[in-house]
Amino acid sequence: MKKVIALILVAVLAVGMLAACGTSTSTDASVSSSAASTDSAKGTDTAASGQLIGVAMPTQSLQRWNQDGANLKKELEGKGYKVDLQYANNDVNTQIQQIENMIVKGSKVLVIAAIDCSALSDVLKKAADNSVKVISYDRLIMKTPNVDYYATFDNFKVGVIQGQYIETKLGLKDGKGPFNIELFGGSPDDNNANYFFDGAYSILKPYIDSGKLVVTSGQKDFAKIAIQGWDSAKAQARMDNLITANYAGGKKLDAVLSPNDSLAIGIVASLKNAGYGSSDKPYPIITGQDCDKPNVIAMINGQQSMSIFKDTRTLASKVVEMIDSLLQGKEAPVYDTKTYDNESKVVPSFLCEPVYADKDNYKKILVDSGYYKESDLK
Ligand code: BGC
Repeated sequence: MKKVIALILVAVLAVGMLAACGTSTSTDASVSSSAASTDSAKGTDTAASGQLIGVAMPTQSLQRWNQDGANLKKELEGKGYKVDLQYANNDVNTQIQQIENMIVKGSKVLVIAAIDCSALSDVLKKAADNSVKVISYDRLIMKTPNVDYYATFDNFKVGVIQGQYIETKLGLKDGKGPFNIELFGGSPDDNNANYFFDGAYSILKPYIDSGKLVVTSGQKDFAKIAIQGWDSAKAQARMDNLITANYAGGKKLDAVLSPNDSLAIGIVASLKNAGYGSSDKPYPIITGQDCDKPNVIAMINGQQSMSIFKDTRTLASKVVEMIDSLLQGKEAPVYDTKTYDNESKVVPSFLCEPVYADKDNYKKILVDSGYYKESDLK
């Protein structure tokens, strides 16, 4: 009887998991992840039976990738898989070598968050020659047919939410303005960076066209505003230059579009050095993404305004589901078979829903969902 109840519980939670990625809030997401771990805790999956899964992550320098790797490892091992988890210090050649090793060691599936999305064609040809399946993780691997699935958050929507946050906080819809804004983009070798910018720009462009938002520096093209390697120091240096060249003599900066938290860290540091953060010179609206701990603390302290929350537990659960399907020769559940063209094929994709956190809702989004403890955020 106990067993039957347990099975029903797992089934109900598993349905919740599907719903979480398709539509919902991060609170749902946390339910879903506990569902997955309940399931995986049993460690009895026959598809797994000790098979090796290679997990290639870009860098340990950003909190999110550490969490992504740890979540994947935990869930996969819980199901009975072996895991080769590697970080490549944001170095493209190191990542290629790590993937090559994973193939040599007999990995059945590779989960890859690419550093340079267009640099993996040769190594993935080797994977295909060895019948190794490939899941593109978070970032779409470009220019190769040898990618089976893509699991990510809705990247365009990430940008849309950032743009809408600026729109709301400045009161642009109510006709307020003009306001001064500066724009930042992510790393040009990361395919996601274009989606983030396009999403945000789709919201901001009408206001820029009408003059209600003024990009004082005039720098609006992605190529001009992109920050190689998502590097905080490079973002800080660009913000320093923008301030010196355009905001001398007390001109006020009202908003900064930052695509993620590592850039926001650099932007805030630069603004702080320039005297922002006092009552007569408050910080502008500054966006971000990942809800890294230092950034959530910066939100609570009024330096950064918001950050997109992408619950990495949800993404990990979805990827484990994909791996199970691939190894059982079944089709994985995917919702989008049209959008993500990697210039070689349309890669079947599963998109999880991003939400935003700010100082008003972070307790509900980040603490109540079990993602952080309140004590982590001091
Ligand atoms: C990810 C972001 C992350 C950025 C820098 C992007 O591809 O989607 O979550 O902040 O890379 O690592």
